[in-house]
Amino acid sequence: MQTGLVHLHNFLRWVIIILLLVSIFKSYAAWKSGRSFTAGDKRLWLFTMISAHVTLLLGIAQLLVGRFGILTTRVPEGVSVMKDKFFRFFWVEHPVLMLIAIVLITIGRGQSKKAIPDTVKFKKAFLFFLIALIVIFLAVPWPFRVEIGRPLFPGM
Ligand code: HEM
Repeated sequence: MQTGLVHLHNFLRWVIIILLLVSIFKSYAAWKSGRSFTAGDKRLWLFTMISAHVTLLLGIAQLLVGRFGILTTRVPEGVSVMKDKFFRFFWVEHPVLMLIAIVLITIGRGQSKKAIPDTVKFKKAFLFFLIALIVIFLAVPWPFRVEIGRPLFPGM
């Protein structure tokens, strides 16, 4: 069960990245061309947000009761969370940065509901999604990251 949840959390990273990339490219093109906002744009932004929110829920579960959860892990004697690269990353940096990214995605998606010109909608959504993607890239435990690296795909 626990392994399955981590695998799903790992896999959803790719869903978010792909949906964000598509949202970013489409918003930019629509902003520059001045085309109208469509039901397809609305659906794409909604799915991007849902994938982020599901990952958030899985992340909270990992943070609390996962392999290295705050409630299930005893910090070794003499180790300070903020001075230890591993604990600082998984208990502080990763959750906080990802939460910021998910808030940005939610605000970006929220543009679809606003009574503002479509060009402004696309421009704002483009910026929020782009910053969210950059934050996600910074906060993912990529395999090359020393001490905190995790597999690119679940179960690798
Ligand atoms: C866009 C959002 C997020 C993405 C893309 C993401 C991505 C990842 C990835 C790729 C891993 C490595 C999984 C593995 O070991 O196979 C991971 C682990 C983890 N994530 Fe996230 N994460 C996100 C949000 C969050 C949030 C919001 C939290 C906490 C509130 C969180 C908590 C954790 C924890 C505790 C682990 C370590 C799990 C373990 O190895 O047992 N994540 N995350």
